[in-house]
Amino acid sequence: MVSQPPDSGHRPFFQLISGLAAEDAIGPVMQVMEQAFDPRFGEAWNHSQTRSMLAMPLTRVLLAEARGPLHSAGQGDAIGFAMTRRVADEEELLLIAVAPKWRQFGVASALLAEVIDDAQEAGVQRLHLEMRSNNSAIHLYQKFGFAQVGLRRDYYKGVDSQHYDALTLAIDI
Ligand SMILES: CC(C)(COP(=O)(O)OP(=O)(O)OC[C@H]1O[C@@H](n2cnc3c(N)ncnc32)[C@H](O)[C@@H]1OP(=O)(O)O)[C@@H](O)C(=O)NCCC(=O)NCCS
Repeated sequence: MVSQPPDSGHRPFFQLISGLAAEDAIGPVMQVMEQAFDPRFGEAWNHSQTRSMLAMPLTRVLLAEARGPLHSAGQGDAIGFAMTRRVADEEELLLIAVAPKWRQFGVASALLAEVIDDAQEAGVQRLHLEMRSNNSAIHLYQKFGFAQVGLRRDYYKGVDSQHYDALTLAIDI
């Protein structure tokens, strides 16, 4: 069950939006990107990288947008997104992110569930991703049954020049 943020009045507090054109997606995606990623790890994409990826025909983006009283209270539209790249019967989860104040209310779970449903409907056989080994996002992926299929030592470089391993996770769907 999805929990609710304290002032949501127990109504659904977000909706998922798919099929956005790159030029409509870039603003909301960057709004979340700029808040969501810890700057220590250098994982956030800049505007130009994100725009290039969104413009590619194989890239798909799913947006979580605030709705109801929280939305009308002007707390911002975009609260999370998932970005994937589908190639034949494989899909890669490139990024998933939720703005800090909206975390642990099930937003990322809803995004990922929708990504998986949509991929299944399209005949995708496998969803995979790469993540920094010490990222708490592992809890999200384990919840959905992702298993580790690879390890790249020192793949990520933080701003302090510290290196972090990358885990490759995958799920057959
Ligand atoms: C990872 C992230 C997307 C999770 O978003 P979220 O909306 O808080 O996730 P959910 O609320 O759907 O939580 C999913 C599960 O993971 C657990 N979880 C989420 N964050 C957790 C944390 N920091 N520590 C422990 N468990 C956590 C939740 O309890 C939940 O499990 P449950 O349903 O069994 O209780 C969010 O923390 C984020 O944006 N992180 C920064 C960006 C990032 O690193 N993205 C991943 C790499 S691209």
